[in-house]
Parts: sequence; C-alpha cells; structure tokens
Amino acid sequence: MKPTHKVTPQKLWNMKATGPKITMVTAYDYPTAILAERAGLDIILVGDSVGMVVLGHDTPVPVTVDDITHHTKAVARGAKTPMVVADMPFMSYHISREQALTNAARLIQEGGADAVKLEGGAEMAPTVKALADAGIPVMAHIGLMPQRASVEGSFRAQGRDADTAAAILQDAEALGDAGAFSVVLEFVTAEAAEAITKTVEMPTIGIGSGPHCDGQVLVLHDLLGVYEEAPPFARPYADLNTVITKALTEYRDDVRSAKYPGEKHTVHMKPGEAEKLKKKKG
Ligand code: KIV
Repeated sequence: MKPTHKVTPQKLWNMKATGPKITMVTAYDYPTAILAERAGLDIILVGDSVGMVVLGHDTPVPVTVDDITHHTKAVARGAKTPMVVADMPFMSYHISREQALTNAARLIQEGGADAVKLEGGAEMAPTVKALADAGIPVMAHIGLMPQRASVEGSFRAQGRDADTAAAILQDAEALGDAGAFSVVLEFVTAEAAEAITKTVEMPTIGIGSGPHCDGQVLVLHDLLGVYEEAPPFARPYADLNTVITKALTEYRDDVRSAKYPGEKHTVHMKPGEAEKLKKKKG
C-alpha cells in the first residue's frame, strides 16, 4: 500500500482532544478540490447543497445518488489529503438498510469518497450502525436538516429552548453510540452546540452553530461570495460575484471592440505561407 497523508476519523478524534479546530468546506469539482487541498482544509464535503449552488434547484431534494457520485469522482481526483465526505441524497438511505448500504458503497467504491454523511436523529441510528458495521465511516447531520425543510417549515435556528436542545443532544448521543465518527450541527444555538460538543466523544462540526464546536463547515459558494444572498451565519471571505462579473463584462467589451484577442494571443502561419494561401484562393 502507498503511504498516505489522508485525514482519517482517528486524526479528527485526536484534533477534538488536542486541537486545532477541524476545518471543512464543500466542493463539487476538481479545481476547487485542488484549491481546498492547497489551502490545507481537513475535510471536503461533496454536499447535496450542490443541488442549490451548482445545479440551480431550490432545495436539495432533487439531487440523486448519480449526481453525488459524479461530483465526488471529480473531487476525489483533486483531494489527496483532505477526507472526502459524500452526502447521501434525499431518500437514498431511508427505504431499507440494503438501500442505504448499496448507495453508500457506491459513493465509496465508484465515487472515491472516504466517508458518507446522512441527515437524521436517533431514528437513523440503526442505519448508521449498519453502515459503520460494514466499515463505512459515517458523519451524522442534525439540527437544521435541509432535506426535511419542506416538512419542518422555515429556516429557523434549532434548540432555542431546553427541551428541543435536550432532544438534539439525545440524537447526537444515539448517533455517536451507533458508530458515527463525527456529527454536523446545522443552525443550532451556540449553547446547545456547546453542550453537545462537551457531551459526545465524536467531533462536532458546526455550521451556524456558534464557536464551541470542534470544527466548522461552510458552503464554498457562501465562503467565496459567489451569490449576492447567503445565509445569515455565513461569512464571505471573498467577493467572487464582483470579481467574476467584472471579468466577464471586460471580456464582453474587449470582444465587442476587437481588443481581444491581441497579438500575444494569436498564432501566425509560417513566413510566406499567407501569400501562398491568397494565390491559391485565386
Ligand atoms: O450539503 C451541504 O452543503 C451540507 C452542509 C450545509 C453541512 O450538508
């Protein structure tokens, strides 16, 4: 076997114990996987957010196992060190244990993912156990669960009172006991996220869940400022919307005014050949 510097579940557990905080970002293609690798991110998530930020859907619900497999293959080619986690899409793990195992195995074997992620609380613990027992590392995802947004209603912070926070904590414990190696806490109040992080052994990765989690994840397009709108908890570290629009507008203007392509972007025939061509044309 070739030596590997791949980030493993064990490495993430060590980071929970001794720091530094775990860094995770979504990516959906080869170039951004290379950039995330170069930036030293620990985990790349091929999230079902691909449905909204890349494919133009309103929710993650239409995303299929084929979609995630396709994007995971590209990411896995670019990410040699970060752990690549593939999201299990809506209804790809709910119908039966066999269905969950078959789809997770496909994301690992065909897609090249190192682990899978699935949404759901204690009710998903048997599925997590089946996958973990089969040797498939599972990252859980609780709090706000975008695949269920149409059932649960609006985009609201989770765990705002003691009862709901305790319920999320129980979910986290059940998923950890079932063998999940880590858990994403999405849009959970900071107090609830802190309590979960202190209680469970596995690392917690927060998104919109305050500073006390063992790590943080952001959707790449929110982090880079690709769209004008982003969730309230996302911090844009760049303004690619402006950068890309400016570049495309300049390109359009240069083509229209024949400034591009210039001499340095142009190839010529060998000396004398253009004249010969003219004569041939008669
Ligand atoms: O699909 C996704 O991008 C996610 C993150 C929000 C954690 O699940």
